[in-house]
Amino acid sequence: MDITYRPHVSASAPGKIIIFGEHFVVYNSEAIVGAINRRCFGRAEFTGNLGVSIASDLEMKSNSCTIERASERDESSQKKLLEPLSTFCRNILREYALDIGLKIYIKSELPIGVGLGSSAASCVLLAGILRSIIRRNHDEEISSTDRKWICENALSGEQMIHNKSSGVDCYVSTYGGLVHFAGFTETTSIKSQPLPLFLINTRRSHETSELVSHVRRFSRNRSKHFEELTSAATAICSNGVKAMANGSLEEIGRLMTDNHKLLREIGVSNKEIEKIIGICSRCGSLGAKITGAGGGGSILVLARQEIIPAINVALKGLDLCSEAIEIENRGLTIN
Ligand code: MEV
Repeated sequence: MDITYRPHVSASAPGKIIIFGEHFVVYNSEAIVGAINRRCFGRAEFTGNLGVSIASDLEMKSNSCTIERASERDESSQKKLLEPLSTFCRNILREYALDIGLKIYIKSELPIGVGLGSSAASCVLLAGILRSIIRRNHDEEISSTDRKWICENALSGEQMIHNKSSGVDCYVSTYGGLVHFAGFTETTSIKSQPLPLFLINTRRSHETSELVSHVRRFSRNRSKHFEELTSAATAICSNGVKAMANGSLEEIGRLMTDNHKLLREIGVSNKEIEKIIGICSRCGSLGAKITGAGGGGSILVLARQEIIPAINVALKGLDLCSEAIEIENRGLTIN
């Protein structure tokens, strides 16, 4: 293949928050999920050596909020993260019989393993870069056929990392915005007023695949109860769509708290998360819940601007990171 058609290809993809429905969405329930204004960036350069090598600052952010605090960087965590990503790229190049060499550098604003979709965003941007190379496409505009291909392929990459995955993270990272996800063929974009959202990173990273396996065991051992919880989660999503359409922050917050109770019931919360959620509630948050797989990770809080200082004061000393976030309409970008 003539690799001189373009000196390099860059792409970026957003992380995500799940407002309603994580875990239950793996069992054909629904979810409301939003892309966030924190992204993963990738740049691929053609090299003379066949194959793909990936370098990244991703591993440096494990368990930390900022790169400066990443003293616990270690080689094995880097390998664990980057090897499946390289294999994912090599599989695609093989499938399309592309004998090329790529050096890809990934830079991320998303801490890993804290429920913000860093692995999905990495897979989406890598699939985006490869699609652009396969199609020799110079356009920044991504066609709907290409976006669909990218989303499906990113999901197969994410499944190499997380085994069973509903696809919701890859979907929202590819398309952006706020989405009501009821399977790939049933997704609707939600129009909502800006939501006053606040993220608390517990700095305890989790293995999504372990938590998904834990829930699978729960669903098998207590199938009747799990069915009831799944129906309750589906109802929360339907009511969530209505509450967003009506712009009722109180109702959205109440539903978030109800959703968290279901997550606690299936065993993906812990003492620390409960303590943080209790503090937020006492300070006057409208609602708070785990976002993503749980077991540590991030807590999503809906809180009016004026009570944020009180929450920050109350959380002081707990060694957490907190920041306001916004829903991001841009999904994958390629340039
Ligand atoms: C992870 O971000 C969300 C889970 O529901 C898993 C999935 O949907 O694949 C826990």
